[in-house]
Amino acid sequence: MDFSSVLKTRHSVRHFKSTPIDKDILLDILRDAQTSPSWVNAQEYRVWLVTGKKLECIRDEYRCMTQKGIKGYSDLPVAHRTSWSLQAQENMKQFSEARIQAGLLEEKELSQSYLFHAPAVMYLTLPKQHSEWALLDLGVFEQTLLLAATSRGIGTVPAYNLVKYPDVLRNHLSIPENERIIIGIALGFEEDTRLNKHRSIRQPMENIVTIVE
Ligand SMILES: Cc1cc2nc3c(=O)[nH]c(=O)nc-3n(C[C@H](O)[C@H](O)[C@H](O)COP(=O)(O)O)c2cc1C
Repeated sequence: MDFSSVLKTRHSVRHFKSTPIDKDILLDILRDAQTSPSWVNAQEYRVWLVTGKKLECIRDEYRCMTQKGIKGYSDLPVAHRTSWSLQAQENMKQFSEARIQAGLLEEKELSQSYLFHAPAVMYLTLPKQHSEWALLDLGVFEQTLLLAATSRGIGTVPAYNLVKYPDVLRNHLSIPENERIIIGIALGFEEDTRLNKHRSIRQPMENIVTIVE
């Protein structure tokens, strides 16, 4: 797939088929992600690749906790929407309302409670004492990973919801206390559902660019 098609094809997939992904493909995706630049080549991020029975245990626990209404408590604090810029708040509102109007909220919540039915999840972590620059590095790594997966026909969604109960992940994956769990990326083959056809729109470029000549 050429680069432009990869960019146009990638979108957040929120319901995956149960079909497993070949381990070699997952490792190739990670190898591609490792080409990402980082601050003085620090490459501080770590990846916890989870599939099979271990993922099923995490899925069961997440689903039970979500059904009980247990609020998330991710390692990276969630900032209240009102602490974001007005433009960001407007974009979030548009995003949330569009999904409600399309009648997809329940379907999304249900699929999300099953970790989007993904056959594989990658959890990205940083040492607790990381520099703010390391978060930027991790984001760059994440995006390369998403695009690398797309180029191989594998769907993805990066999600807070995958890391909202960090102690469950620490217990099952033996992630040390001094590693901060930043984000999870679910991977799999896209299920043919209305939820997956829904797209997030982008704001006009004028909102984000200042051209100075
Ligand atoms: C840091 C981060 C956290 C996210 N968390 C969630 C999440 O918990 N649940 C979800 O369904 N989507 C989540 N998303 C996906 C965003 O909603 C999505 O990227 C955005 O709406 C743009 O849509 P697109 O990825 O389809 O282009 C997250 C994305 C990022 C980058």
